[in-house]
Amino acid sequence: MMGKFITFEGGDGVGKTTQATLLANALKTLGLKVKITREPGGNVIGEKIRNLMKSSSPSDMDPLCEALLMFAARRDHFVKLIKPLINKGYFVVCDRFYDSSLVYQGVLKKIAFEDIMALKKITIGDFEPDLTIILDVDSDVSIERLSTRKLILDEYDLMKKNEHDLIRKGFQKTAEIFSFRSVIVNAAGSEQKIFAKIMKIVQKRLLDILPSG
Ligand code: TYD
Repeated sequence: MMGKFITFEGGDGVGKTTQATLLANALKTLGLKVKITREPGGNVIGEKIRNLMKSSSPSDMDPLCEALLMFAARRDHFVKLIKPLINKGYFVVCDRFYDSSLVYQGVLKKIAFEDIMALKKITIGDFEPDLTIILDVDSDVSIERLSTRKLILDEYDLMKKNEHDLIRKGFQKTAEIFSFRSVIVNAAGSEQKIFAKIMKIVQKRLLDILPSG
């Protein structure tokens, strides 16, 4: 049986990593084969590209260069890890995927939607997540979460409120464009309350079709 690919998207500080981890653990306790991963990163090449990106000042990096790096990392991640695991029946839970490129390199850095989609087509073809959970919360809440969570904030974390707002709107837009796979989840409130909503969505969309036993 083919596995499933579930992505978490949303701005910085919305709680993607926490919720992706809770979901991966819950799926494991159901006896499913599960792999949690992230972008940029997830494998050797991807993590190197992540470090390169995180260690460069965002203003130093040309936006198209940044987009190409993201898709280079994604290509490697996809062919070496994501696709083989799905073929082996794994539920792969990924913290960010190409919607993040549409929002960060597209909306924020002004690369045309069509250009990002062209890179997507070259690198991963028609592949799409089975489900994308978009965590959505007021920018003041995500900024507050970021400031209490990390001792050292990198430049990507130190965005101004108007950038957080743009990113939030960008993900609301990807939810509309890719409505066949996207669900927006209000990410205000306790971790457990948010997770209960996510689990319900996953049950309804993906687990109902699992053969019993
Ligand atoms: P994130 O995974 O939230 O990392 P951390 O837990 O270290 O905050 O974010 C990594 C950063 O990479 C985030 O600011 C968004 C950015 N990013 C892009 O710009 N484009 C992409 O395609 C992806 C996947 C991430």
